[in-house]
Amino acid sequence: MTEPALKSPALQARGLVKRYGRVTAIDGADFDLYAGEVLAVVGDNGAGKSSLIKALSGALIPDAGTILLDGQVTHFHSPLDARHKGIETVHQTLALAPAMDIATNLFLGREIRRTGPLGSTLRLLDRSAMRARAQEQLDALGIETVSTSASWSRRCPAVSGRRSRSRGRRCSAAGW
Ligand SMILES: Nc1ncnc2c1ncn2[C@@H]1O[C@H](COP(=O)(O)OP(=O)(O)OP(=O)(O)O)[C@@H](O)[C@H]1O
Ligand SMILES: [Mg+2]
Repeated sequence: MTEPALKSPALQARGLVKRYGRVTAIDGADFDLYAGEVLAVVGDNGAGKSSLIKALSGALIPDAGTILLDGQVTHFHSPLDARHKGIETVHQTLALAPAMDIATNLFLGREIRRTGPLGSTLRLLDRSAMRARAQEQLDALGIETVSTSASWSRRCPAVSGRRSRSRGRRCSAAGW
């Protein structure tokens, strides 16, 4: 864990409760997360970790308890709502669309649209911007190369590591 940068938590929960019928998944949980802190939530299978994270990210509405963001009581009505308030979640369940390319998967639900009426009225997507941003993210993570089209996915799936390097370079040379 890292040292907290601030004295008051950025995200807090007090007395969170979530029940699924007779099963109590979260039973009065308290939670403090400080800015700059990396916090691990550890527990047995079925202990309620996912339910807690879902409650803290708008994916479920707790039955009781309070969530505070920067000290203010807040209610997340949806994951999108939480995202707009700065909470992003990578869920344990792999919610990927394998038939779609990596850039499309990265921007699912937050697609970049073309500027002007092409984007606002016709809702056209700015695919090159999404690919460029995806490439930046992959470069930052040190992932060597990927394909952006389903056909390329079949021919050269996500490539990393020494043995795949030459194949990866071929994908790169081909555009991705
Ligand atoms: N949608 C649901 N409907 C009914 N019961 C659920 C649901 N989601 C979770 N539960 C139950 O709530 C309890 C907590 O589950 P949860 O998935 O939050 O635990 P977890 O700590 O994330 O487990 P794991 O380590 O297996 O991921 C479990 O008993 C689980 O069976
Ligand atoms: Mg879980």
